[in-house]
Amino acid sequence: MDGGFLLVLLFSLTAEIACGEQKIELWREWELWKMEHGKSYESQKEELERHLVWLSNREYINAHNKNAESFGFALSVNQFADRQDGEFAEQYLSQRTSEPSSHQVLTDELLVSLGWSKDDNPEYVDWRQEGIVTPVKDQGQCGAGSYAFSAVGAIESTTAIATGQLRNLSAQNIIDCSTSFGNRGCQSGSVSGALKYTVSTGGIDTEEAYPYVARRAYCSFKSESIGASISGVISLRNGSESDLRMAVAYKLNHSMLVVGYGTYNSVDYWIVKNSWGTNWGMKGYIYMSRNRYNQCGIATAALYPVI
Ligand SMILES: *[C@@H]1O[C@H](CO)[C@@H](O)[C@H](O)[C@H]1NC(C)=O
Ligand SMILES: *[C@@H]1O[C@H](CO)[C@@H](O)[C@H](O)[C@H]1NC(C)=O
Ligand SMILES: *[C@@H]1O[C@H](CO)[C@@H](O)[C@H](O)[C@H]1NC(C)=O
Repeated sequence: MDGGFLLVLLFSLTAEIACGEQKIELWREWELWKMEHGKSYESQKEELERHLVWLSNREYINAHNKNAESFGFALSVNQFADRQDGEFAEQYLSQRTSEPSSHQVLTDELLVSLGWSKDDNPEYVDWRQEGIVTPVKDQGQCGAGSYAFSAVGAIESTTAIATGQLRNLSAQNIIDCSTSFGNRGCQSGSVSGALKYTVSTGGIDTEEAYPYVARRAYCSFKSESIGASISGVISLRNGSESDLRMAVAYKLNHSMLVVGYGTYNSVDYWIVKNSWGTNWGMKGYIYMSRNRYNQCGIATAALYPVI
């Protein structure tokens, strides 16, 4: 933003703030929002720019929510409200690494050997209620780290279903050590690479043994600290929501973990765990449309780790 323009904006903003009770209220809301999300800015200029982005996002959200019913979902102001769309994508979405799908693809025969069936799936599943989903994590500054959290979440939950034992596993282990599988720490990566890495090393360390530091560090994997292992990875049939209904998945260039599904007021939804902390979405989760032509690509390139 050019200095002159900024001055004018600053002037009109200040004038407006001085003018109306409502503007003072908005400024108060901004201060509260900053406090809630631990925001601080390097200069007044940066704060003003961020405030303007926040105002415009807030306006967009309010306008959307007036018609929330027709969209099928409502929005709310979260910790990313001072970011512009493009900027957000750059910081938090990873470039999708082109990965030759070298995983075994789900077939009807494989379904039988896995003991999965399309016909007897319950109407409603929420694994959080069964105690097999660890708390929502916050990947923090490690922008593209979602691939590591999704992979870890999938291994945690499939292991817990198989063994009854739920443990936090180390996303840091994957961020630091899976580079020979095409991953680049906090820059970019794929769930596929993370899962292949886990198969190759014979497991992944516990979070306790290998804690999260939100940046790429030296690989310090120790086989004696392994908390879970997987023997392979199955690639679900591309775009098949009925396959996904039986499995755990990742989604395009931001990876998330599907932990359940159901139907509310005749609307089918997926329950999806993210890694942007519990302030984001609904306590860290998002509910996404199900059986709406694979909306948002939820069943595209979905993977399932095999214990
Ligand atoms: C994410 O993926 C979408 C669809 O494949 C693509 O249009 C978009 O440019 C990607 N974004 C980033 C930041 O890689
Ligand atoms: C996992 O870590 C969280 C803190 O992030 C902790 O509250 C929880 O008890 C740990 N264990 C399990 C099994 O979720
Ligand atoms: C999966 O489906 C999407 C959307 O239809 C398509 O763009 C993509 O190329 C497919 N991927 C594979 C590996 O077939």
